[in-house]
Amino acid sequence: MSTVAYERPVLTRHQVGAMNKFSRVRAMEPQTHIAGVRVEELVEKYGSPLFVFSQKTLVARYRELRDAFARRFARVRIAWSYKTNYLDAICTTFHREGAWAEVVSVFEWEKARHLGIPGDHIHFNGPLKTEEVLRRVVPEGTIIHLDNFDELALLERLAEELGIKPKVAIRVNLAVEAIPAWSRFGFNYESGQARTAAARIIAGGKLTLAGLHCHLGTCILDPRAYRDQAAKLTALANDLRQAHGLVLSFLDIGGGFPSHSKLKAQYLPGEQTSPSFDRYAEACAEGMAGLEYPPGQEPMIVLETGRALVDDAGSMVTTVIANKRMPDGQRGLVIDAGVNLLFTSYWYEHDIVPAQPFGGLSEPTVMYGPLCMNIDVVRDTIAFPPMHVGDRLVVRNVGAYNVTQWMQFITYRPAVVMVSASGEHAIIRKAETLETVLGPEQVPPWF
Ligand SMILES: Cc1ncc(COP(=O)(O)O)c(C=O)c1O
Repeated sequence: MSTVAYERPVLTRHQVGAMNKFSRVRAMEPQTHIAGVRVEELVEKYGSPLFVFSQKTLVARYRELRDAFARRFARVRIAWSYKTNYLDAICTTFHREGAWAEVVSVFEWEKARHLGIPGDHIHFNGPLKTEEVLRRVVPEGTIIHLDNFDELALLERLAEELGIKPKVAIRVNLAVEAIPAWSRFGFNYESGQARTAAARIIAGGKLTLAGLHCHLGTCILDPRAYRDQAAKLTALANDLRQAHGLVLSFLDIGGGFPSHSKLKAQYLPGEQTSPSFDRYAEACAEGMAGLEYPPGQEPMIVLETGRALVDDAGSMVTTVIANKRMPDGQRGLVIDAGVNLLFTSYWYEHDIVPAQPFGGLSEPTVMYGPLCMNIDVVRDTIAFPPMHVGDRLVVRNVGAYNVTQWMQFITYRPAVVMVSASGEHAIIRKAETLETVLGPEQVPPWF
């Protein structure tokens, strides 16, 4: 029989953060398991802190996205956004579901090739495509998403020299009402620059213009942004067909759908504010309704969804190192995972819960990481119950960008584990050791 420890009653004054605006106290339940495995078992085996990915959730999210778009479009391709999480086991999970790869550097391209993805199943984005990089990837049929006129001229020169007609897409930046425009990448729609680039490619005759691409931004909570984006890409596609007889083979709407994490500016939790994939698919279908293409020649819809596929599948387990009382009255918790591992703490209010049953009164709490840096705040002003040294916490929805943007800084980076749908678990990235860090270092011979 389990017993609950006696707790001395205390009187506390009403505190900001305990109550929400509907006059309800936020209920917090412990999360003792991740993907069906006991948190304590995972920590005993792999240590703390620890990233844990649920393969079942990865596959479920992938299929939900694919099906939402497949209901509305005859041909759909998901090109997995490597930068969001390029661990082999994560990429392989998506590739086995049929995903192509979307990369933005030669490193990511090499990673996709190492996983056996054919070069012509890779979309290559981003501003960093040097001559050396293009010489490497173009002969393998990789689809180049052009970012600027210099790149266009370079690629034409290489195409001629190599005797290859590379497949390209034009990356288009455009304005939609719902969000600020990302105008840094690609060719602008409103100024006519994107249409000029297309005409230039067609006139040059050295490249095959296969698609149009637009990545609007990230964490876009309003599906209408995609309706407007799709409408502009459609108008450009219609224009190119009328003016040049060009029928494109794909329209790529980029990434940007939100996960269930909560941005700092949002009031309600992500589960309540993030629209379903269905609503985004519906918005795209509305936007593309005006496409004037011959029946049977409709373009493939390409999705480069990153965050929304992987974020909810990843959790972090962290351990309480110490309790503190801060001068402003808040309770302070020192935990063993810092912002060097949870980069997303800067813009998300992470959903953090105890991993064991708890008692006592919740009060506003600030969670500090282990770095000896004042900026190492993982979560501020969260209504949290008292914790003991050694208690575990689960930080939810941290699968996107953290294990690519994390920094080896002051501490070693921890292990990353995957749990299969049937509950098996294994390391997918080992914890770092002194050898990992020393590997690339050298002391000059004169020492
Ligand atoms: C070109 C491109 N495609 C796809 C993505 C993935 O975006 P998200 O994770 O918001 O879905 C990004 C991320 O910045 C990107 O730059």
